[in-house]
Amino acid sequence: MIILGLETSCDETAAALVQDGSRVLSSVVASQTDLHETYGGVVPELASRAHAERVLPIVRETLAQAGLGLGMVDAVAVGNRPGLIGSLLVGVSAAKALAWSLNTPIVGVDHVHAHLYAGVLREGDVADTTPALWPALGLVVSGGHTSLFRLDSWTTFTRIGATIDDAMGEAFDKAAAILNLPFPGGPNLDALARSGGANDRAFDFPVSRLGDSLNFSFSGLKTALLYAAKGTPGSTSAPPLSPERTRDLAASFQRAACAAATLKVRRALNAARASAMPFQTLLAGGGVISNSRLRSELLAVAAEYTTPLSLPAPHFCIDNAAMIAGLAHHCLAAGLADGLSLTANPRTAA
Ligand code: KG4
Ligand code: ZN
Repeated sequence: MIILGLETSCDETAAALVQDGSRVLSSVVASQTDLHETYGGVVPELASRAHAERVLPIVRETLAQAGLGLGMVDAVAVGNRPGLIGSLLVGVSAAKALAWSLNTPIVGVDHVHAHLYAGVLREGDVADTTPALWPALGLVVSGGHTSLFRLDSWTTFTRIGATIDDAMGEAFDKAAAILNLPFPGGPNLDALARSGGANDRAFDFPVSRLGDSLNFSFSGLKTALLYAAKGTPGSTSAPPLSPERTRDLAASFQRAACAAATLKVRRALNAARASAMPFQTLLAGGGVISNSRLRSELLAVAAEYTTPLSLPAPHFCIDNAAMIAGLAHHCLAAGLADGLSLTANPRTAA
């Protein structure tokens, strides 16, 4: 079965063709970074207009790359929640028009859930991974979301933790802005933090614990970085942001942010072990999972707990439509197809 996936929830217009749930035949992502760069963040009206202009050319491109015609598409999937409502509506409208004209099923997929599916996707000759075992623990860290899930199947998600303030990617982007790094902040901060000579212990930034909760918080860390970089309001001033100081601030911020994320993963793994229902697989997804330090720390956690880790390739961590089409395969198998009354929803399902 070949599923055409569409993704327009934020500032990436994407389309992909995925066969049998895991084999990516083509995946095209048109980033709008250049459109939003001067504003330092995504401008919703600009995003939805750009999606409207780009969505059909992107569908044509993904078909051309796979060497397929629309007649080969068995179902159409679309990320219909959560996201910017104007942006979501463009994808949902395009998906409905395509499904209606092709007379195929249509499936609305939760974008946050789909991030956790990205580790299953395979390209070229790469062999399929062994199927995930349940229950699985899922960590989603992106620009808009930071959550922990318990999964009992690819269609049964229970959120067991979430950020109480900033999303992790949002914190990276704001930290990068404080350090005067170019947009998009997260990848640039990551690159600086791993550059030669960076000292990740130069600043002792707080790692949020929140008692024994599985929730996350990044606002205290962001404020600590702001004060270290620019001085405390009304009292101390900070030394100038020299290249070395900026690099060490970036590395110290990244160390504390990653420690806050992995602390909650460990806590969830420990709690499940104590309840005699241990997690069988660890899933990770979202833009921040392409962070070099977080990837190696998650690999270390997986080894420590001897729990298999599904870590998506970096280009499937960021927003893409292959993860939407892939997860839709399981939604269809579970009888969760939608009809042409499918709507966009700015909020996540769970
Ligand atoms: O998943 P995504 O593409 O979009 C959302 O669903 O939000 O994630 C984008 C976020 C941005 O905040 C970006 O700065 C962050 O992921 N990000 C990173 C890295 N690459 C992307 N953050 C830290 N290190 C990275 N290497
Ligand atoms: Zn995303």
